[in-house]
Amino acid sequence: MKFWSGVIIAVALVATPACGRDAAAQPEHDARPDSAAAKVPPGVAIASAHALATEAGLEIIREGGNAFDAAIAVSAALSVVEPISSGIGGGGFFLLHQAEEDRDVFLDARETSPAAVSSDDYLTEDGEFDRDRATNGPWAAGIPGLPAAFVHLANEYGQLPLERSLAPAIRLADEGFPVYGRMERGYQSRAEVMERYPGTRDTFLIDGRAMREGDTFRQPDLARTLERLAADGFDGFYRGRTAELLLEGVQAEGGVWTADDLASYKVVEREPLRLNYHEWEIVTAPPPSYGGVALAQMLQILAGWELEELDPALRAHLTVESMRRAFRDRTFYLGDPDFVDIPMETLTSRDYAAGLRATIHPQRATPSDMLSGEPTPLEGDETTHFSIIDAQGNRVAATQTVNLLYGSGLVPPGTGVLLNNEMDDFALQPGEANAFGVMGFDANAPEPGKSMLSSMTPTFMLSDDRIAVLGTPGGTRIITMVLLGILGYDAGLDAQSVAALPRFHHQWLPDRISAERGAFSPEVIARLREMGHEVDAPDEQDEMRRSAGRTSSHSWGNLQTVAWNLRDNTLEGGTDPRNEVGSAEVQLTPEP
Ligand code: GLY
Repeated sequence: MKFWSGVIIAVALVATPACGRDAAAQPEHDARPDSAAAKVPPGVAIASAHALATEAGLEIIREGGNAFDAAIAVSAALSVVEPISSGIGGGGFFLLHQAEEDRDVFLDARETSPAAVSSDDYLTEDGEFDRDRATNGPWAAGIPGLPAAFVHLANEYGQLPLERSLAPAIRLADEGFPVYGRMERGYQSRAEVMERYPGTRDTFLIDGRAMREGDTFRQPDLARTLERLAADGFDGFYRGRTAELLLEGVQAEGGVWTADDLASYKVVEREPLRLNYHEWEIVTAPPPSYGGVALAQMLQILAGWELEELDPALRAHLTVESMRRAFRDRTFYLGDPDFVDIPMETLTSRDYAAGLRATIHPQRATPSDMLSGEPTPLEGDETTHFSIIDAQGNRVAATQTVNLLYGSGLVPPGTGVLLNNEMDDFALQPGEANAFGVMGFDANAPEPGKSMLSSMTPTFMLSDDRIAVLGTPGGTRIITMVLLGILGYDAGLDAQSVAALPRFHHQWLPDRISAERGAFSPEVIARLREMGHEVDAPDEQDEMRRSAGRTSSHSWGNLQTVAWNLRDNTLEGGTDPRNEVGSAEVQLTPEP
């Protein structure tokens, strides 16, 4: 199989020592508020994909919690009110900034592979890749990480007991909340899988039928599971009654989770990846996310041009070419840093980026040389992100997920916990594309206790004028959305405009630019096609087909961002207008 031709592979394979998990591009410019700038924010700002989750965070702040307590509250509330996207049956990444210590840490609560699973388990009797097993039911589910993250956040960073920070989520699960359109549509698309399992039917059917917008959705089993977690911490989920129910439910459906898989789960604190772009210091996700490495490559490639001075078609062409090159490396080098040596120093270096930049023709698309036949989901409803800045200057950027819509579809009876289908983010078969159309090899093959590669990219941006927190769901598109968000802040946009920015994406394979309506003018699309790019952008006809339900949406992502403007000491939030239930709130500290 031919993956790449010409000079790029030669550049990519420059020999370098593998340098372990924490190596990263180090910033030359340490952007921190200078003496003329504000020392603490005037209040708190929270942006999340559901107004009830944002309110849960504000409630915990009003009760004396800090950003980390609020992060538990928002994360747990999203797990209740946005089961389509994330939950305590899944995992996530939390990028934290402790203001007092001036310390950043990346809390890795990614799911891990059960010990008894191997690649061969995902083959049919005919030796074909078993896509159903990879994405639906017990074999699709990794060991959840989010509950352990809550315990760690409360013990190490919070000011309130876990019981208090989980209270809003428990209340929402007991009392219920109104089903919204995205939740209903997502359910319809996954109903066949979800209704295979008795525990899922018990949890998700309302009066014996599929949910409809406006129904009140209650999850009493999930409330009891959260209560056991609140009361007993780690043991309240990974051992004892909840663990018994999880194991019974997974094993009853033929899965191979063991008590030891649950009891040995651990979150990992990692050094974030740091880089510079223009006057910004960017603090972002290290492996097992690919996001930070890709951002380092794309931004350092793009730093070779004054993007703002280029015409829009050339700017789009160069940005796409940087995306293409960054995604190529994902395929071969990236995996869980605790299991594989990743050549981080090379992949994130300026010299490497300069080499990649030199392979870009200023007027011609570089063919990716192989088309994957796999469609890439366009919607942004998988996964979710929230951003917080508190009145002490603490920050949280958190992205969490159950992977595809409603994860594996499996709820072990009595738990209310919808399990993820994150095993599909492993390279379950070498060279076989996953649901997002990306593939991998040994570095991302499943091994006992190993985490699967992720695209989740919670990110901070710091300059002398401004501190921004951002991230989004969207599978592989997360990384390119965060890139465009960074370029938006760099161009001086406000937070809401950054959340609303039209998007475009390229991921090496398939060799195609996907663009939202409004991302490019017809003239720019024509210029890009002249340069040799395939451009998939909506036109009138496509919109008509879509409204008739015959194509997928040409809109994606759910970017949630907050920013602290240091010069005038103001806070702002931006919530993605593509999502009908998101909210960004600023609550100012009352004058003494
Ligand atoms: N499951 C999507 C991601 O982690 O990239």
